Amino acid sequence: SESSQFCDAGIGYGESCGVSSSSSTKLLIKGGTVVNAHEMEVADVYVEDGIIVAVRPNIKVGDDVTVLDATGKFVMPGGIDPHTHLDMEFMGSGTIDDFFSGQAAALAGGTTMHIDFVIPVNGSLLSGLEAYEKKSKKSCMDYGFHMAITKWDEVVSKEMEIMVNEKGINSFKFFMAYKGSFMINDELLLQAFKKCKSLGALAMVHAENGDAVYEGQRRMIELGITGPEGHALSSPQWLNFRKRLEGEATARAIKLAGFVNTPLYVVHVMSIDAMEEISKARKSGLKVIGEPVVSGLVLNDSWLWDPDFITAAKYVMSPPIRAAGHGKALQAALSMGTLQLVGTDHCTFNSTQKALGIDDFQKIPNGVNGIEERMHLVWDTMVESGQISVTDYVRVTSTECARIFNIYPRKGAIRAGSDADIIILNPNSSFEISAKSHHSRSDTNVYEGWRGKEATAPSLGGPWWL
Ligand code: URP
Ligand code: ZN
Ligand code: ZN
Ligand code: ZN
Repeated sequence: SESSQFCDAGIGYGESCGVSSSSSTKLLIKGGTVVNAHEMEVADVYVEDGIIVAVRPNIKVGDDVTVLDATGKFVMPGGIDPHTHLDMEFMGSGTIDDFFSGQAAALAGGTTMHIDFVIPVNGSLLSGLEAYEKKSKKSCMDYGFHMAITKWDEVVSKEMEIMVNEKGINSFKFFMAYKGSFMINDELLLQAFKKCKSLGALAMVHAENGDAVYEGQRRMIELGITGPEGHALSSPQWLNFRKRLEGEATARAIKLAGFVNTPLYVVHVMSIDAMEEISKARKSGLKVIGEPVVSGLVLNDSWLWDPDFITAAKYVMSPPIRAAGHGKALQAALSMGTLQLVGTDHCTFNSTQKALGIDDFQKIPNGVNGIEERMHLVWDTMVESGQISVTDYVRVTSTECARIFNIYPRKGAIRAGSDADIIILNPNSSFEISAKSHHSRSDTNVYEGWRGKEATAPSLGGPWWL
């Protein structure tokens, strides 16, 4: 439903963010290449009060309009990140980025909307939503909410109805991992999928075999492997244990969702095994959506063996970042349409928080950054290399997410009537990503030293790169 699932922080966010926005509410972006998911053309974009009024060549305007020359640049819908965790309590810590710093980072990197996961309070969805409504008061850009489901009972089932019918939240994430905390078993997963089906809501899964991951972790500790590499290994290497378990859980979730005939969205697809299950399912006609995250697309697990604990620990997330080769295969799957959209799973902890697991990798808070880097890294690894077109770039970073979560064409498109969540990307620019200059509060960055292109969000108070 087109509803309150997402909140509009409004264009006049200058005061709340402490960033001076343009005094004029009329803006003409001239001469750029306007890119949508299906076409691109050289055109002007005229914006009034945060809404796109016209897109066509040679728009004439009066003196009261701010004019930006975008010649030689790409004018695109702002990125939409379908998967973030801002201000989340997790594994005994709280993420270092809240709704202000995380969103400032997003905007700096060309992402103008994100969808965050509400975490229930003691299993209560209503209390969880109340808490997240408070947390998100410091927002400076548009955002939406999915709801995580961390246990299953009749109360939760009833609360799901309220979420869909009254609160505008219609996507629910279920955890097949994190045994002892968020995980629910197959019997409950099936009930949950049935509920999604009856509500017309979208079921999302974190697909790992939680029981086996738990067992694998115990084996590592028994073998005396307590460092971050234990997170990747979690079993003798020849079994490729955790990879197989992601494929297994993905297949199981797909089969259960297929059994009740409800669509399924698989979050953070990290391995070839999981991707191939999604590919098979889609070929057989099942409605399955696969979301790779930028860490899974561009990184590999070699960092987990770094002798410096803090360096290794910053790469710990679940499902784990895989061995070299998986990322390339996920990129190919994204370019061929087997996987549909790119998220980040932005979930940042600083070095002192990661150090909670210095004697035991199981205690390292799971999560990596990415909200600020996603647009840059997808461009540099996928467009620059010729794997996807510029129009595909818009599709996988923005339009597809808007479509899936019912906010298209208000978001995800440069066309008359859409929100002016616009970015201008300069393909001839280049800068280096670093924890020293990024906008996240984290003191580390898993993309340290990677390069990106300047992307400004002019109607949202940019340019940020000057
Ligand atoms: O390691 C991760 N992914 N942390 C965030 C929680 C989740 O499972 O998405
Ligand atoms: Zn807006
Ligand atoms: Zn997850
Ligand atoms: Zn996540």
